[in-house]
Amino acid sequence: MDNDDIWAGLVDRFADKAYASVKGLVRTYVMHQQLLEHLPPPPATVLDVGGGAGHQSFPLALAGYDVTLLDSSPAMLDKARQRLARLPDEVQRRVTFVQADGENADEAVNGQRFAAVLCHGVLGYLEDPEPMVTQLCRCAADGGLVSIMTGNAKVGAVRPALERRWDDALASFDARTEIGVLGVQGRADTVEELSELISGRGVAPLRWYGVWLFVDWLEFSGAELDPDDAKQVAATAAVELEASRRDPYRQLSRVFHLVGRKGPG
Ligand SMILES: C[S@@+](CC[C@H](N)C(=O)[O-])C[C@H]1O[C@@H](n2cnc3c(N)ncnc32)[C@H](O)[C@@H]1O
Repeated sequence: MDNDDIWAGLVDRFADKAYASVKGLVRTYVMHQQLLEHLPPPPATVLDVGGGAGHQSFPLALAGYDVTLLDSSPAMLDKARQRLARLPDEVQRRVTFVQADGENADEAVNGQRFAAVLCHGVLGYLEDPEPMVTQLCRCAADGGLVSIMTGNAKVGAVRPALERRWDDALASFDARTEIGVLGVQGRADTVEELSELISGRGVAPLRWYGVWLFVDWLEFSGAELDPDDAKQVAATAAVELEASRRDPYRQLSRVFHLVGRKGPG
């Protein structure tokens, strides 16, 4: 294990437990549908920066996209390789792994430009999102997508309130950081700030979505949701997808998904 790999101790909790929950299943489904609304038809190239164990980009490889998964954590990349090995050979051939910091993505992919650059659940772990966002925008081809998912700074009181931690909730209305579900300190952004950041780097914001709402509320208030009840999970995911697209529901989601398109350079 790499001593600097702070994600090594979180691999199983994240890749096996978080994604095996109803919330994990809903998130993958909702984000996949949102991405398909904007992606060109396959084949097309996708760079997944901080791609982790491939939960969001392997479904794209299955759908025919050529995926480059870049991550700084050797342990997370090992997990991704193990998960990929369970998929058909032709899907495996469409996935490339790169170990690097996202802040050096352009150099790490040798200047390649992609039809879509994803960065989901990563910015919140960085003190300053700017260097990463600069690289995401740079790696997108002209007309390519940039897709960012991160914590919503406007709803900091939601989780402590649902967990009935009222003092924490009162103190969290204007908070920008909290200890997230993986036990790691996270920082949140606003749609407006991130939109401005990508606009300044040649990427025009197209649309933004929420990700979870009702499953988050249910889980934090103590309800047990059964990930093996496929019918219920599918029904839940359909409701969450609809909520993710509309006001006021999307505004209350604890994470948001911003999609932008790069203009001609
Ligand atoms: C919460 S996981 C999200 C994984 C994946 N994007 C997903 O949505 O399932 C965060 C990932 O970001 C990676 N990461 C964190 N900081 C990074 C950086 N500066 N450059 C590249 N990867 C990074 C971690 O190793 C981890 O795999």
